[in-house]
Amino acid sequence: MKTSTVAELLSKDIKLHDIEVKGWVRTFRANRFIALNDGSTIHNIQCVVDFEKTEEATLKRITTGAAVHIKGELVESQGKGQQVEIQVKSIVILGDSDPETYPIQPKKHSFEFLRENAHLRTRTSTFSAVMRLRSSLSFAIHKYFNENGFYYMHTPIVTGSDAEGAGEMFRVSTLDSKNPPLNEDGSVNYKEDFFGKETNLTVSGQLEAETYAMSLGKVYTFGPTFRAENSNTSRHLAEFWMIEPEVAFMDLAGNMDLAEDFLKSILNYVLEHNKDDLEFLEARLLDEEKVKPQADRSEMSLIEKLKFVADNHFKRVSYTEAIDILKNSKPNKKKKFKYIIEEWGADLQSEHERFLVEKHFKCPVILFDYPANIKAFYMRLNEDGKTVRAMDILFPGIGEMVGGSQREERLEVLREKMKALDIDEDELWWYLDLRKYGTAVHSGFGLGFERLVMFVTGMGNIRDVIPYPRTPQNAEF
Ligand code: 4AD
Ligand code: MG
Repeated sequence: MKTSTVAELLSKDIKLHDIEVKGWVRTFRANRFIALNDGSTIHNIQCVVDFEKTEEATLKRITTGAAVHIKGELVESQGKGQQVEIQVKSIVILGDSDPETYPIQPKKHSFEFLRENAHLRTRTSTFSAVMRLRSSLSFAIHKYFNENGFYYMHTPIVTGSDAEGAGEMFRVSTLDSKNPPLNEDGSVNYKEDFFGKETNLTVSGQLEAETYAMSLGKVYTFGPTFRAENSNTSRHLAEFWMIEPEVAFMDLAGNMDLAEDFLKSILNYVLEHNKDDLEFLEARLLDEEKVKPQADRSEMSLIEKLKFVADNHFKRVSYTEAIDILKNSKPNKKKKFKYIIEEWGADLQSEHERFLVEKHFKCPVILFDYPANIKAFYMRLNEDGKTVRAMDILFPGIGEMVGGSQREERLEVLREKMKALDIDEDELWWYLDLRKYGTAVHSGFGLGFERLVMFVTGMGNIRDVIPYPRTPQNAEF
């Protein structure tokens, strides 16, 4: 006899003898009805215990959180709310759960509380749905690239390069902290970090991905990246996962097409394969919306929003056009932007991005051709000499979902740029080699995976879409 999953059993509508299932008790009502979940689906299966034939001692051990092994029959359910249920013939308690101390009670817990119990929070419906979606999205991403001729490439986690030039890196050190090598002025010589070389945790696999794109053609990375920025927002993590495709002979327009097609395909995948979890999360959000004033409620439900993005063109707008729109706009009748854009060249703040996406265009927006001086050194300089072929994709409720660009493929222009920004050529000699030997137009982008999971699940805080969030306050577990 094979153990079935709850998902398998719920999909059956015939009477089945001798089934077996293992899982965790969500609730036990009236000494008779177990709601059992094993993680295979958002739904619990009802298991009906014959309390007259079951020992008192066993009944007492059927508590919320306990792991159980049930044998019985799958029958049509007498009660409402489910098609089938299990008539229990035998139940073995595999692992007890003390109802006095078990943190996950059968009631609504706050997300803050559940973050403190991150090791148990996937025992709740919300977090199990979110993490199943996270897994499904990962699969859909690999599937998309695999079906479109991309190679999956692993880029280093420990690296000597600062891909973004933003200096937000975690140092990796083999130095003896009690007795570090010193500079002449007495300060610690970090140049000695990694057996004689300065190293950090990667902020992006892009530069290494570029090297492989320039031989394998189409590659992508999907791995952890690290930013030592001390930002406590609901959209930033110190450790997050990034997907970075990089393609040879592709320009910025091709990059936009790729990103849009990719995102839509991923959304369609989960709409098709994760219906139950999405419906559960949608209902959760609708419940939350009910207590909000009418004006603050969202116009679309979660699934409607995903379908809308999957079915409609992303609006493509240049930075310069966006600035004109913003200069002539007020976020609402009374309020001005907190941060007013005085002139061309300023970086957009999240209030501006959200205005463009949520109020003005009401759809995802691809902003492109940013001023060179607010973007990274590797971006392709436009013929105007002041903008670069950068693109950011902004999503409703999220802000920046994707950042990418066409890369500077001209050796001399890149050298000039690095000189101007004081980036040492010796550190990126291999990167410059790509421009010396068989250089070509190429482009790519980075998608912040957790931001995608937030969008798909409707979760409001990035800490709730990654198993163990790393933020300035949180590095437990
Ligand atoms: O815009 P970013 O910094 O771009 C890069 O790193 C490029 N090298 C990517 C490339 O062209 N290959 O980061 C890309 C995306 C952002 O759009 C955002 O979604 C996400 O990564 N991201 C973060 N997500 C969570 N927490 C953080 N601290 C993040 N920083 C960036
Ligand atoms: Mg960015």
